[in-house]
Amino acid sequence: MSNSKRILSGMQTSGDLHIGNYLGAINQWVHKQSEMEAGDEFLFMLADLHAITVAYDPKLLQQYRRDVPAWYIACGIDPKKVSIFAQSDNPDHSYLAWIFNCITPMGWLERMTQYKDKSQKQERASAGLFSYPTLMAADILLYDADEVPVGDDQKQHVELARDIVQRFNTLFGEIFKSPNFVSQQNFTRMMSLQDASKKMSKSDLQQGGVIRLADSPDEIMKKIKRAVTDSGDRVSYDPIQKPAISNLLALMSGVTGDSVEALSEKYTTSGYGDFKNDVAEAVVAFIKPIQARYAEITADRSFIDSVLDAGAEKACEISSKKIQQVKDAIGMSR
Ligand code: ADP
Ligand code: TRP
Repeated sequence: MSNSKRILSGMQTSGDLHIGNYLGAINQWVHKQSEMEAGDEFLFMLADLHAITVAYDPKLLQQYRRDVPAWYIACGIDPKKVSIFAQSDNPDHSYLAWIFNCITPMGWLERMTQYKDKSQKQERASAGLFSYPTLMAADILLYDADEVPVGDDQKQHVELARDIVQRFNTLFGEIFKSPNFVSQQNFTRMMSLQDASKKMSKSDLQQGGVIRLADSPDEIMKKIKRAVTDSGDRVSYDPIQKPAISNLLALMSGVTGDSVEALSEKYTTSGYGDFKNDVAEAVVAFIKPIQARYAEITADRSFIDSVLDAGAEKACEISSKKIQQVKDAIGMSR
């Protein structure tokens, strides 16, 4: 039996990518890519249909649909080895999501914490936001993905995809394969620099809390210097008692590769000010080469188009076979 595996992941084209997206997800993708073996297939998607489940600006969406893949590549994803494609360029995603909507009990979707959070922030939550997880299940199951490397906030969605596999296969026969959620081993979530109880997010209106991959060195310095801290004046890793300082330690660990334990020992006698200064310098040094690659990639406007065209072709080729099996199973074929 072949051991080759298929990996699928993605990100919403809903804003500028930030360091949490890198440390929670892209970093893992790059790592997996470095361990890729002959026969393995990796697909990295732009979740643009997910990006429209909340209010958005069409002009900005259009821009993020180009920026996000450019950041993927600038961070180390190699389009010669993997496929990068837009969800909306393959209609099979919406088609399968509809079928999943028809077999998914409302109660399963009502339990989703992301829906609860996001719907509270909207004046009127859309039906699209409610069924976000069935579209995500379609994204994964269309390709028989073995692994889904994402940040830990996406775990519940991958578990729902597994529940959908069980339900569909029980109703219609063994068509889908159960995907595995995989996340960073020693990194969970990057929290906002302005509120350590909230995750750093593209859609955070408090921009001071978010370090974007596109931020200038000056902006990064300012944001880290203004980051909230905890009471006391000692640097130590203690996510319960010192959530803000622990978050900065996790950030520094993420960009330097040093463990949080080693770093907290190193800074235990430094004041918060000196510590923050070093964190800022480490982040700037880390982001600089990524920004340089990004500038090169985006200088040629046709490059991203050609990457997305090739990615979509590959994605459609794989998913069309799955859709045919689904149609046969559910009674939709001639
Ligand atoms: P955002 O919440 O910033 O809009 P997405 O929901 O599009 O980001 O997430 C894209 C990927 O980045 C997912 O795998 C998600 O788990 C990961 N991710 C997002 N925010 C963070 C964070 N603050 N810390 C770690 N990983 C994150
Ligand atoms: N919901 C994911 C996020 O916010 C993005 C996403 C959509 C995704 N479809 C996916 C991630 C399929 C992995 C696999 O990050």
